[in-house]
Amino acid sequence: MAEAKPVKITETVLRDAHQSLIATRMSTDQMTPIMDKMDQVGYHAVECWGGATFDTALRFLKEDPWDRLRQFRDGFKHTKLQMLFRGQNILGYRHYADDVVEYFVQKSIANGIDIIRIFDALNDVRNLQTAVNATKKEGGHVQTAISYTLGEPYTTEYYVDLAKKMEDMGADSICIKDMAGLLVPYYAGELVSAIKENVHVPLELHTHCTSGVAEMTYMRAVEAGCDIIDTAISPFAQGTSQPATEVQVATYKGTPYDTGLDEDLLNEITEYFRPLREEALESGLMSTKILGVDINTLRYQVPGGMLSNLVSQLKDQHAEDKFYDVLEEVPRVRADMGTPPLVTPSSQIVGTQAVFNVLMGERYKIATKETKAMFAGEYGQTVLPFNKEVQKKVIGDKEPITCRPADLLEPELPKLEAELGEWKEQDEDVLSYALFPQVAMDFFKHRKALREGNAPVSGDVECSVQPV
Ligand code: CO
Repeated sequence: MAEAKPVKITETVLRDAHQSLIATRMSTDQMTPIMDKMDQVGYHAVECWGGATFDTALRFLKEDPWDRLRQFRDGFKHTKLQMLFRGQNILGYRHYADDVVEYFVQKSIANGIDIIRIFDALNDVRNLQTAVNATKKEGGHVQTAISYTLGEPYTTEYYVDLAKKMEDMGADSICIKDMAGLLVPYYAGELVSAIKENVHVPLELHTHCTSGVAEMTYMRAVEAGCDIIDTAISPFAQGTSQPATEVQVATYKGTPYDTGLDEDLLNEITEYFRPLREEALESGLMSTKILGVDINTLRYQVPGGMLSNLVSQLKDQHAEDKFYDVLEEVPRVRADMGTPPLVTPSSQIVGTQAVFNVLMGERYKIATKETKAMFAGEYGQTVLPFNKEVQKKVIGDKEPITCRPADLLEPELPKLEAELGEWKEQDEDVLSYALFPQVAMDFFKHRKALREGNAPVSGDVECSVQPV
């Protein structure tokens, strides 16, 4: 057993917890009143930005994500702010040129981010390098994340080898990112021990409660020497989210692993978030479908965020009865695509394609743009080869690429700046526009209308949870 030491806590309620439970719809106004208390708890870090929060803020909440980050920085005076960054995909769903990645990192750190957790959906480390280098250059903490998944090629040796590569690349810490809740307790202990024996930087574990094993997984991982665990305050914990912060704190209290976090303060934070949970349950934004233990996740390997997305995609098509058909199609599509881990964007690519395959009644009758790009090698290298037959049906005779995908991309910023023109009000706008051109432009128009007094009535803003 590893030497026992206090375990550190990263709180996820401002990012992953609401991304997993309420489709990322928590608004800045719902977050800022509690920042001051959260800042005094003694968290290792607060994960509060990146992932899907950026897209959702612009698209549905009509908020400037950069402004949200600046408000966090003002409010969190003692606590490190962490973001989730999808390597060469940044916070979007395609590969961006290096100049966009570098500028995004620069502006994230300039606006207040301390720790950038960088991962690649395919664990293709070539897709991490630009973001890692840029974070180092800007003086940020580089945390690279291993996308954890199950499947024949994903052995302990595979993960140890990946962790060593990441340490060699310059990672200041490494995260095992178990987005689907697939990491079971005893194996977690084994995996953490193996990685700790081979790398020297701190190790963090990120999991979801989807399959019901997460709390036990954390315990075994902590006993095996895991340095940091990701948790969510209880009203936004469990289900497809993280284990509850208070429960982890109580678990290790009075032991050599004691987190030292202030339990009274945690209770006040719980009281703050509880009405938000109640409202989300009443409005249906938080579905009871994703709150219980879903043992199918171990079988279908579907991450939390993906489950809630599938539910809402099928709801839009009035095809909720196809939920379990789609769940069964997911592993078939995944195998066709070379058995990638399922995490954004690969989870969306596989999930959306699975929805099409089921609703069309013929597999790959329609292939999404992203499915075509995946089979063309444009997201990078998968651990196993593609299904050649499906690849041919999807991309025809097109020659797939084998280099780092971004090597083929010309710098994008000059063109984007030109397109943005008069809409630009701050340097960061070009980055919002780079990631989500249409959504960002709609937001810029909304912002201008608001300022000119032509405010859209509040009903125009799609937001199911009202601020309290
Ligand atoms: Co997660």
